[in-house]
Amino acid sequence: MSGLFITLEGGEGAGKSTQIRRLAARLEALGRSVVLTREPGGSPYAERIREAILAGKGKPYGPLAEALMFSAARLDHLTQTIRPALARGDIVLCDRFADSTRAYQGAQGAVDDAELAALERVVVGETRPDLTLILDLPAETGLARADARRGGPGQKADRFESENLNFHKRLRKAFIAIAEAEPGRCRIIRADRDAEEIEFAIWNCVKEKFSHELKIATEASEI
Ligand code: TYD
Repeated sequence: MSGLFITLEGGEGAGKSTQIRRLAARLEALGRSVVLTREPGGSPYAERIREAILAGKGKPYGPLAEALMFSAARLDHLTQTIRPALARGDIVLCDRFADSTRAYQGAQGAVDDAELAALERVVVGETRPDLTLILDLPAETGLARADARRGGPGQKADRFESENLNFHKRLRKAFIAIAEAEPGRCRIIRADRDAEEIEFAIWNCVKEKFSHELKIATEASEI
């Protein structure tokens, strides 16, 4: 039996962490074993690389170097956490994955899409998500939410939160372009609304996509 691999993506302040926990709870309520994980991170070595990246250690070396740092973390995360979980038949829910490299490092402008695609092929191989939920909201709204979460504007924004508004606008377009290029895998979820509504939209996508794998009758699973 092989598991299911679901990723959540989007810009800053989209509410991914809340939603991924709610989705995990719904799947567990169906009796499924869920591995909740995140990038960068998700394995001990990758968590160490995470700290370095978010502290801005890669920034002086440019976007390609940062993409390589994210990729090194991803390789370990795939080997240590994601592939073993999928082989056990678990559902892996991952807060960010390779689309974040495409979108964030792509939006920085210095690495072209073909180079990022080549890197992704080497690092990810066959382990592509079965479903990617892209939480979409205006850049201004997301940044304001991220500020509020930290306790106010300028309060120790991390490496990417502190990029300018134009960067975050390009980022939003990049995620939408990914969804348009891969409609079979990706779904856009409007994230400028209540957490309950977002949760419901996500659950509908998951039920629709995996009704067979989750063995649920769509009507019976309205919780
Ligand atoms: P995190 O605190 O996890 O942010 P969020 O709560 O928004 O998910 O920090 C991860 C940051 O790293 C986030 O700004 C997105 C960025 N990132 C990339 O630039 N490239 C990547 O490949 C990944 C996985 C994340």
